[in-house]
Amino acid sequence: MSEKSAVKSEIMRILGKTDRFAYVHSFGCQLNVSDGEKIKGILAELGYDFTSDERKADIIILNTCAVRESAEERVFGIVGSMKKLKEEKPSLIIGLAGCMTAQKHIAEKIRKSYPQVDFVMGTSAINSLPSLLLECLRGRKFSCDIGEYDDFSENVAQIRESTFKASVPIMFGCNNFCTYCIVPYVRGRERSRSPHDIYSEVESLVKDGYKEIMLLGQNVNSYGKDLGGAVDFPELLRMLNKIDGDFIIRFMSSHPKDATHDLIDAIFECDKVAKHLHLPVQSGSNTVLERMNRRYTIEKYLETVDYIRRKSPDFSLTTDIIVGFPNETDEEFNATADLIKRVKYDNIYSFIYSRRTGTKASEMEDITPESTKSERMRRLLETQREISTENYKRFVGRKMRVLADGVSKKHGGFLTGKSDEFIIVEFEGESSLIGQFVDVEITDSMNWAVLGRLIK
Ligand code: SAH
Ligand code: SF4
Ligand code: F3S
Repeated sequence: MSEKSAVKSEIMRILGKTDRFAYVHSFGCQLNVSDGEKIKGILAELGYDFTSDERKADIIILNTCAVRESAEERVFGIVGSMKKLKEEKPSLIIGLAGCMTAQKHIAEKIRKSYPQVDFVMGTSAINSLPSLLLECLRGRKFSCDIGEYDDFSENVAQIRESTFKASVPIMFGCNNFCTYCIVPYVRGRERSRSPHDIYSEVESLVKDGYKEIMLLGQNVNSYGKDLGGAVDFPELLRMLNKIDGDFIIRFMSSHPKDATHDLIDAIFECDKVAKHLHLPVQSGSNTVLERMNRRYTIEKYLETVDYIRRKSPDFSLTTDIIVGFPNETDEEFNATADLIKRVKYDNIYSFIYSRRTGTKASEMEDITPESTKSERMRRLLETQREISTENYKRFVGRKMRVLADGVSKKHGGFLTGKSDEFIIVEFEGESSLIGQFVDVEITDSMNWAVLGRLIK
């Protein structure tokens, strides 16, 4: 018997035949959610069922995010409140996984100050879950595995959150070291999965009826460089586009320094690839971009935008922006406000800069008051609202293909979904349509979504 199956049978022997419930919650980005689906897959193999009620759980795993301080504080708050659960049920096992735990100082803080936590598992240690669990079941007080492995968990069966939208990581880690960002420290260097493994996974997801395939990586544009470059990202898109079936391919994120004309050409060539690009700019100012180590200029960024817009004037673009990077001046911030007016994004995801221990920017002195940063954020969001309102009018009167993905929280009897351009579309319809592509004629627009009528 292999060591892996010996661990598995020992766990199943200790757990016995009674029902066991697991509560797994993932914070942060879709990559983390995808890891959470693998964690669930491993637990299911060990005989666990799942619950959304923490009080019913025999094991709780919080799959954490470290990108901003607020994300970490939230987890510490939740872990703090779990002390009571543990007192009520001493056999409860609490584990922390994900990006927060991959930082030594955090793993140490958890060990010292949160005795209710039984184990800590780093981002690339998912395959160690059975052995960590076994140590807990045998009564060990605290187990920790934050080692770095090159194992992609290729053979882990996933328990997916959705029956029609699937995330497919194509690469892990990041080599870019933007000065504000913790990700390279908690996710390690870039490792690409083989094109063959990705192709087979997408092919079988499509066969299983999945309608949206989201390819994930911190910088998908550097996909394949570590494999010798035989298949680069545009080539991967072209390969996946050949898979038969009715589905849409999305991807995230694309670093502007590596967004080539070939990438854009591939988006336009491939009928299954969404006509939307998320191109995180972070700042509209070259001096800030330099302090961020982003390695492109606004001129180069706009050249890419213009190349896209020449092919399709109203192509949908979205971006990420950091407001209040250390010592951002009014002039530098105004450059960001000007940029969003120039590019006319359909949506922006903006964040106030958060200091991350261990990053280069955390050593930069910062005299900009928090109140100034909040005021800049408010102005930016207001500007974007005006832009979105204006932009979304272009869809009125058009027919859009929409993947219905849920019931609208704002409009009774309405469904909500995403168009190919990644625009939220709300329309009246039966919930049996959820998970299907439908055609919607757009009748009205707002600043966050468009409204429409289902075309029978
Ligand atoms: N790899 C992706 C980004 C992953 S993190 C990329 O390069 O686009 C997602 C977003 O979080 C980033 O684009 C950035 O806008 C934001 N972010 C990252 N670190 C941050 C920090 N320290 N403070 C505030 N926002 C941050
Ligand atoms: Fe972070 Fe930059 Fe890597 Fe994105 S590209 S994960 S922002 S270091
Ligand atoms: Fe994602 Fe947060 Fe980690 S954004 S990669 S879960 S730090």
